[in-house]
Amino acid sequence: MKTFHNTINMPALGFGTLIPDAALTISATRDALKAGFRHFDAAERYRNESEVGEALEAGMAAEGIAREDIFVTTKLWNTNHRPERVQPAFEQSLKRLRLDYLDLYLIHTPFAFQPGDDQDPRDENGNVIYDKGVTLLDTWRAMELLVDGGKCRAIGLADITLDKLKAIYEAARIKPAVVQVEAHPYLPETELLEYCQENGIILLAFAPLGHGIKPGPLEDPAVLAVAERVGKTPAQVLLAWAVQRGTAILTTAKTAARAKENFDISSLPQDAFNEINNIQTRQRFNQVVNTGVPGFIPRPNLDTKTN
Ligand SMILES: NC(=O)c1ccc[n+]([C@@H]2O[C@H](COP(=O)([O-])OP(=O)(O)OC[C@H]3O[C@@H](n4cnc5c(N)ncnc54)[C@H](OP(=O)(O)O)[C@@H]3O)[C@@H](O)[C@H]2O)c1
Repeated sequence: MKTFHNTINMPALGFGTLIPDAALTISATRDALKAGFRHFDAAERYRNESEVGEALEAGMAAEGIAREDIFVTTKLWNTNHRPERVQPAFEQSLKRLRLDYLDLYLIHTPFAFQPGDDQDPRDENGNVIYDKGVTLLDTWRAMELLVDGGKCRAIGLADITLDKLKAIYEAARIKPAVVQVEAHPYLPETELLEYCQENGIILLAFAPLGHGIKPGPLEDPAVLAVAERVGKTPAQVLLAWAVQRGTAILTTAKTAARAKENFDISSLPQDAFNEINNIQTRQRFNQVVNTGVPGFIPRPNLDTKTN
């Protein structure tokens, strides 16, 4: 499996734990470990860090896998951006995950919400209550202190635009190691990827399968044609394309069969790689980068999956 070595040793193929059901979180995480995944992405917001921690602990014991052989990320939620809330939030995540250090801690979105226990604070009109009393750089400074403290190996950002990333990168004492954003052939984020590659930042793509939403990249005619030609599934083609262009990926498979399928990828021939690069459709599936509120952008005639 490809591993990035620029600032941290992060396996390119990551398993995402955004799974609403607790029992399914445990079985899917264990299946992913069994299939070969060694990179796991969690978040305070997903409300299942305890289940992820339980599955990793049991799975590592059963498979004889050492802590140093897995890479675990979790994320600071929007309601914990105030500097004094960062370390407590980090410690709580670590405890729920049953870990004594974290490989990567991300600021989940650049949007600060009203601090408190309610993850989704709203006013009487249903609008999100943002926190104007803290800047992203204030939060970043508190993240840097976690690295100084020794229990957090690297820090990064998620759901961020290039302009906001540049501002943090330039001001940072400890540079972002990873940027996690939505990316797939319909949203290649080429400019952001180039900036990351020039500055030693890993671009970690979420929704590499377009969140599994159909119609979407999984049903794109070019992807289907390449899959047929190279004898791989559309999902394997999309994941191979993503790794081949230099990003890491997060995918969420809920069954053992899909975990195996998504881990079993190999390089595409150059012409096939180019065909995917040449897809012209442009579509963002997740609105989180615009608002800090995760969720699928409503589209006519599609179901209303939320996250
Ligand atoms: N930073 C953020 O704001 C953010 C936002 C979203 C996600 N994430 C992270 O990224 C991870 C990846 O999530 P994602 O939804 O973006 O991943 P994705 O891999 O693009 O989509 C996952 C969906 O695709 C379907 N799928 C998985 N493997 C498949 C296969 N081999 N063939 C056909 N369909 C397949 C599954 O549908 P079924 O449900 O039918 O199994 C699954 O729900 C999350 O778990 C989370 O860790 C981060």
